[in-house]
Amino acid sequence: MIHNLGKSNSILNQYLSEIRDHEIQTDRLRFRFNLERIAQIMAYEISRSFDYELSEVQTPLGLSEVPLLSDEVVIASIMRAGIPMHHGFLNVFDHADNGFIAAYRKYGKDDGFEVKVEYVSIPNLEGKILIIADPMIATGVSAEKTYRQLMAFGKPKHTHFASIIASKEGVEYLQKKLDEKEVSIWTLAIDDELTVKSYIVPGLGDAGDLAFGSKED
Ligand code: URA
Repeated sequence: MIHNLGKSNSILNQYLSEIRDHEIQTDRLRFRFNLERIAQIMAYEISRSFDYELSEVQTPLGLSEVPLLSDEVVIASIMRAGIPMHHGFLNVFDHADNGFIAAYRKYGKDDGFEVKVEYVSIPNLEGKILIIADPMIATGVSAEKTYRQLMAFGKPKHTHFASIIASKEGVEYLQKKLDEKEVSIWTLAIDDELTVKSYIVPGLGDAGDLAFGSKED
């Protein structure tokens, strides 16, 4: 169920270190671009699990046989932080359909919060490959809640959660709650801790704020 791309040496860890670095991450353009290019490489890795059918392409000089993607892909991103990753996936799966989900944490008086999913715009998902982009899997609750709401739009052939940093707790939560035959989790790092406000430690801070600026609660 878990694909931790940061475990093997690759350029991905350079991009990960830049989005974590408290000085480099203040450059919003670079921050967003790093999320986008990580998603592009992740898209390639995920594409290796899809189905392909042999097809013929007419070149100016003859026929060439090539296995082409036969799965239909839907890219769904959780706003706001999933948007730069969405661009990265769309650069690779340019024929994909798209979905957008507004999910946020509604904090109570203490540090506890409830995850609210308020807006979903998505095509039918029956039999399709669903990629849900959200850079941070902290508690796993918003990922699970989003997934369950999306299932009302049809049962995908397989769902890929595309994250950049996950927490150990969040990964264990999703492994307990979701079926590994139906769901895979992709990430570049699994960090050990969460703060009392459920931010990932060491993590990178607030991915949405770093990409787009702070907002009123
Ligand atoms: N969302 C973030 O942006 N950062 C975290 O650490 C957890 C959730």
